[in-house]
Amino acid sequence: MTTWDSLYARRATRMRASEIRELLKLLDRPDVISFAGGIPDPALFPAREFKQAYSDILGGPEAERALQYGISEGSIRLRQWIVEHMGELGVSCNLENILITSGSQQGLDYIGKLFLSEDDTALVQWPTYLGAVQAFNAYELHFERLEPRANLDASDYLARAEEKGGAVKFAYLSPDFANPTGLSLDLEERKRILSLAGDLACAVIEDAPYQSLRYDGEPVRAMLALDCDCNGGIENSRTLYCGSFSKSLSPGLRLGWICAASEVISRLVLIKQASDLNTPVLNQEAMARVAETKFESHTARTNAIYRDRRDAMLAALEKHMPAGTSWTRPEGGMFIWVELPEELDASDLLERSVETAKVAFVPGRAFHPDGSGGNTLRLSFSCADTGKIEQGISRLGALISETVMSRQ
Ligand SMILES: Cc1ncc(COP(=O)(O)O)c(C=O)c1O
Repeated sequence: MTTWDSLYARRATRMRASEIRELLKLLDRPDVISFAGGIPDPALFPAREFKQAYSDILGGPEAERALQYGISEGSIRLRQWIVEHMGELGVSCNLENILITSGSQQGLDYIGKLFLSEDDTALVQWPTYLGAVQAFNAYELHFERLEPRANLDASDYLARAEEKGGAVKFAYLSPDFANPTGLSLDLEERKRILSLAGDLACAVIEDAPYQSLRYDGEPVRAMLALDCDCNGGIENSRTLYCGSFSKSLSPGLRLGWICAASEVISRLVLIKQASDLNTPVLNQEAMARVAETKFESHTARTNAIYRDRRDAMLAALEKHMPAGTSWTRPEGGMFIWVELPEELDASDLLERSVETAKVAFVPGRAFHPDGSGGNTLRLSFSCADTGKIEQGISRLGALISETVMSRQ
């Protein structure tokens, strides 16, 4: 019998089973109210518009091109829409500054491949998006904690990276409505990270799939835009902006993008050529048509619905959570991050929650590269209606209260 373990590359043995993938299976259990999946509500997808777009493409002269191989950079029409969209975010750029990826997840993998050698260091927010940890882990790196609210000293990071035998290659963060906390960085924090990256001479990865899901408060300038302001434009910037259509229009079509200096994009194009040649042209063409006509009105409509759900979850938490429990109050996105009393463990709680309270969430340890954060959990409000949210949080609050009492 083949002994696979001796054949696997070392990086493959660093891959951890994803608790989140397991949890997503709970979405199919009708008796469980799930606050686990960080996904858009499928009832809100613009299916009619996509149906029309696919029909127009396949029924017309575009069909041959749409079913053929495409250029690795991505469809010109879709990149043109992205160029305009980035312009609205304060980033002046051209087609050669955009690479279309199969979701922003593919972008993160390519970024790992481009920058990371064994024993290099990436600075990440703590907690951070599990998918980024998984993508970067494959390149045998070390993670260091990035704390945007603290005074950051480049020399400490440099010394530790050197001790580990590599260099600091990038700071990875989600400045808008982060997964898992839902929190955003203010202008000062964004500038502080950019200045630290300047001192470290490293790149900044601005992962922004939730950027358009703002429910209140004023938008804060994108980090790539701030970088361009300071350094005289995108060609001199050190920031790679990862965008996505997954949370706004459809995750199933797997469409995202990287916007960065053309020198970096041309390297990433080579990686994409080696990986999958191109993202499906038909999907890109359909997305371009739907984004051109529906992006604004669709996100306005879905944001109003998600805002009500967020408000319902915040109100329910206020009403049902016991003293000693705290949570974030995000201005957008899909997540609320809960901190339980220190002595509770969210993974233990999850088992009982699914069996008795019939409520699912994601234990927070999954988002800490060092396995800490046992008393934290992530709630997603995107897929349950306001009635289900009240019901689910009431049951979860009762379970947490019981657990706290039983330990006193
Ligand atoms: C912070 C963050 N980045 C990237 C992704 C990947 O998104 P996609 O590949 O669907 O664009 C997700 C998905 O949940 C996410 O939360």
